[in-house]
Formats: sequence, structure tokens, C-alpha cells
Amino acid sequence: CGIVGYIGHRDAYPIIIKGLQRLEYRGYDSAGVVLFDGENMRLAKTKGKVEDLKNKAESTMPTNGKLGLGHTRWATHGVPNDINSHPHFSNSGDLAIIHNGIIENYESIKKALVKRGYTFESDTDTEVLVNLIEEVKKKEGVKLGKAVQIALNQVVGAYAIAVFDKNKPDEIVVAKLGSPLAIGIGENEYFIASDASPFIEFTNNAVYLEDEEMAIVRIGKEIKMRKIKDDAIAYPNILELQLNLEEIEKGGYEHFMLKEIYEQPRAIHDTFRGRLRPDQGIIKMAGIDQNSERFLNANRIIIVACGTSWHAGLVAEYIFEDMARIPVEVEYASEFRYRNPVITENDVLIAISQSGETADTLAAIKLAKENGAFVFGVCNVVGSSIARETDAGAYTHAGPEIGVASTKAFTTQITVLMMIAMKLAKEKGVFSESKYHELLTELEGIPQKVERTLETNPLIEKISEVYKDSSNCLYLGRGYNFPVALEGALKLKEISYIHAEGYPAAEMKHGPIALIDEQMPVVVIATRKGHYEKVVSNIQEIKSRKGKIIAVVTEGDNTVKELADHVVEVPEASESMTPLLTTIPLQLLSYHIAVMRGCNVDQPRNLAKSVTVE
Ligand code: G6P
Repeated sequence: CGIVGYIGHRDAYPIIIKGLQRLEYRGYDSAGVVLFDGENMRLAKTKGKVEDLKNKAESTMPTNGKLGLGHTRWATHGVPNDINSHPHFSNSGDLAIIHNGIIENYESIKKALVKRGYTFESDTDTEVLVNLIEEVKKKEGVKLGKAVQIALNQVVGAYAIAVFDKNKPDEIVVAKLGSPLAIGIGENEYFIASDASPFIEFTNNAVYLEDEEMAIVRIGKEIKMRKIKDDAIAYPNILELQLNLEEIEKGGYEHFMLKEIYEQPRAIHDTFRGRLRPDQGIIKMAGIDQNSERFLNANRIIIVACGTSWHAGLVAEYIFEDMARIPVEVEYASEFRYRNPVITENDVLIAISQSGETADTLAAIKLAKENGAFVFGVCNVVGSSIARETDAGAYTHAGPEIGVASTKAFTTQITVLMMIAMKLAKEKGVFSESKYHELLTELEGIPQKVERTLETNPLIEKISEVYKDSSNCLYLGRGYNFPVALEGALKLKEISYIHAEGYPAAEMKHGPIALIDEQMPVVVIATRKGHYEKVVSNIQEIKSRKGKIIAVVTEGDNTVKELADHVVEVPEASESMTPLLTTIPLQLLSYHIAVMRGCNVDQPRNLAKSVTVE
């Protein structure tokens, strides 16, 4: 979900609509906009896409006005429908609000407001919040900014909000806790958004609010910021943004996902650019160099993440244990944070997150820090909440990832984690000079091998044609490629809505084998290094039960070719590096199947790109 706001000398409407489209990648199920032209508040909201909102707004109301707020909603409280969409008005009709996040104690506040005569149109927590602000404003006789602050001190939950009062049309009040919020500063104009993409063509100057900060933006005035809790003055840290517009547009590809799949050679290269130096036999990573003692003396490494990032964590478990001989545990952030985990000062926690905003991952970090662990972040979005919250970290530098289904974030996360493991292995003396040099050189050659793997695309398109109508699919892999199987299954289910399961190949005998019949496509990763012979026997087991086999093999493999219905070849690589290659055909397979089924590849139903609520 996303928010966009504008106040200034231009018409707000086109800026808001375009801005919402830029934020579409975050995932949403309904959208809305409010405009104020100095006299009238005009509101349009609808279930569906920004395009539907545009049609509705343009056919039902004038769209002028230099002040406006827009919103895309991902339902938490209340089903996705027109009424529950934002913006919401207060009972007097004076205040308009947009909100990302969840107000957890909204029911008790709502009850109290109902007693005082307030009525509610929607089932949302947001409508409760805007009326609470109105009630405070009236009761305490304070200005909007103060009323927002007092109200927010009464709520429990997470939010990024923007609110204005039609009687003070030169001002928008914003506040943040948990969900991201950026303010773009133009000349005599301000932009509000969940990230900088809606306003990047207007200004490079932006302020990112920290948690528990609020700001009042007023035309002709500088931004005024305060800490919500203790009312202390906060000073805006104005950043100069480097983001360029091309990076966030599709660049000729039909979907962001395909563009991002194809960007992987460059993205992986950008990840190690300036860090990996095979000629000098070094990997330079400031976050590790400055803290290598913490890693080398660690009892264990705990990796926390969600979704695809969690799969990257699983690959990292194999890499760290195999290369650096440090014990690793990989945890879903949402489970870890609530299960009273044992964390000590000798633990290192690595949090992996593309967006750097995932609420559960952020909470796991806070918990680990409270217990004295050293916390290291692997994020893609520069300056994100997780990047700021961690003790040290390394960015993946994959560039903006817009497709909800994560692709280049995954391979670049693995790349960063592999560099860390190699460095530690070297420092610990597990790797000899020559072994280290060999692996550095091999990693440097990976982008080129990814490029070659992408050439399998036409073949995968053909295979997709055969299986596009399947209702189930099984993915199998062993060792380093077991997490790749999980990730392949996740990709398929999230964008094509085909039920898919990833399994360690040997574990198939303990359950999933019962599902195999002639209807069941089974994707098997069977690269030559690793447990090749064992995977080949698993393939035989599938074949004798008439399952359809799509095998990902090493170039030149003939054994599996005899057994499988389809083979996709990837270049030869060390076992530890194969995930960077074997993942690619699985991404392409899910992409083509989803396109053929007519699914919305970049914005699958019910999913959000960054899950800023728990
Ligand atoms: C959502 C996204 C996934 C992503 C996961 C974790 O579910 O749809 O693509 O893997 O969140 O997000 P993060 O930004 O923390 O990597």
C-alpha cells in the first residue's frame, strides 16, 4: 500500500495519480484520492486499481485543486471495498486523512467516540483515527499538528499518515511509526509519499521521517518536525537523492518482473563492484572489516528474514557452515520474535530484507539488540528502516525492485552473503590463499554465466506452454539447491496461483511422493556438483510413478536427459554458486506460466511488496 500527497502551486491530481501508479508495485486492493480547491473537498475511492480510480474520479468530479492526498490500500481491517478505501473524512467533514499501517487499539477508541456521538461509515481503523484527531482538536482547542500528536500518543500500532484540515489549506501534517514516509521538498511545494518514486521528477531533495516523528509542511515555510512522544524538536535531515527515473520504469519490457530477471547479470555485478578484487586477493566490505571479530568470535549466526529473503537466508546457511564453519540458524522473523528465543551477546544476527521495511524483521532486530547481539543488515533499499536500525550492514545494490515477486533481490542477497562467508573463511584460515583466489575469480565470472542461463528463455517459454494449466507443481532440490526449490515453488504460487511445494528431494519419500501421478509436473534441480547421483535416483522414482519431469541440469548432462521430459541446462559452477544459476530458469518458468494464465504478474492478488504490518 502507498500514500501520496501534494501541496503547492500545481494541480495535485495528476501528480497523485502518477505517484500512486509508481507505488503500485507495493501491492494493494483499492485506491482513493481527495482534492481541495479552496472551497470544496472532492473525493473518489474505489476497489480495484489506480486505473479504476482514475476513471471514477474523472467521470464523477472536477479534478482541480492544489492540495490533495491519494492512497492505495491493502486491506487489514475491513474488506477491500469503496467505503473502506482511503481517504477518510472526520465527522465534521473538515479533516481528511490517509493512513498506512494498523491501529491495534482502534476498537476501544471507537467505542469511546461512539459514546460521544461520533458515527462511522467504514470498518476501518483509519476512520477512527481521524475522528480521534478531530475530537482532540475540539476538546483541547489546539491546532491540527498538536491534535495529531496528542491522538497518536493514544494509539497503539503502526502508521504513516498524512492529514489536512480544509480550513487550513496551506498545510499537511504527517507522522510515522513503522511504515515509511518521505517528504519531497520543491520550491513552494511539498510532496508526501511512501518512497521517493512519486516525486523524483520534481525534486531530488527529500526528508525521510524516523519512527515516532511528525512533521508539519506549510507552503512558504520550512518543515517543522517534532518527536511524537516527548514533543522534542527534531531537525529535518535533507538528503540529496540519487534515484533516476529510468530505473523505476519498465525500459521496454512487458513487466517489471521480466526486466528485473534480465537485470540480474548487471545487478550481481553491481553487488560485488568495488568489493571483489581477485587480482589483489581481497574482498572489501567495510561492515565486515570493521566488525570481523564479532563474526569470528560468534557462537553462532542467526539469520532472520521473511519470504524470498528467508530463502536467501537458507542458502546462506549452507554457505556459511560449509565455507566459514560457523553454526547458522535461519528463522522466520515472525516466529523468532514471538517465541522467546535464546539470544546472547555472543550471537550475530543477520537480517535480510530487500525493502528494509518488513515489520517482523524489524521487530526481530530490535529484540536481538535488546539482548546484546550484534546485528548486521543485508538490505537493498538504501536508508531504509532496517538499514538504519542495524549495527552494521552491506547493501545489495540491486537497484529498485518493483515486481512484487522478488527476483534480483534474491540473487544479489546470496551474492552479498557469499562474499561475507568467503571473507570469514579466509580470515579463519579455512581457505588457503589459492582456494580463496579461485572462488573470488569464479564469483567474478557469475554474471556472465547468468547471462548464458537467460538464453534458456525461449525453451522455458515452450515448457511453460505445456504446464500452464496444471493445478499443482512440485519442486525438488538437495543441498544448496533445496532452498532454490522452495523459492521456485514460491515464485510459481505467488504469481500464477498454481499450488506449488518445494521439498528436499530425499524427503519426497516421506509424503509428497503420494501426490505424483501423470498430472504432476515435478521440477528437479540436478546439477552435477553436489548430490547428483542421489538426485538422479529421485528422478527415477518420480518417473516410475509417471510424474512429468522438468530438470535443471549442468550443461552437457546426458544421464538426466534420458529420464526427464524436459531439461534446461545451466553452466558448470561450484556447488555453492549453483543457486545463482539454477534460480534463473525457475523465475522464468513462473513468469511465463503466470503471463499465459492472464495473471497480473507485477502485482499479484493479495500480496504486498513491502509488508510493513505484522
Ligand atoms: C513480501 C514480498 C516478498 C518478500 C517478502 C520479504 O512478502 O512480496 O517478495 O520476499 O515480503 O520482504 P523483504 O523486503 O523484507 O525482503
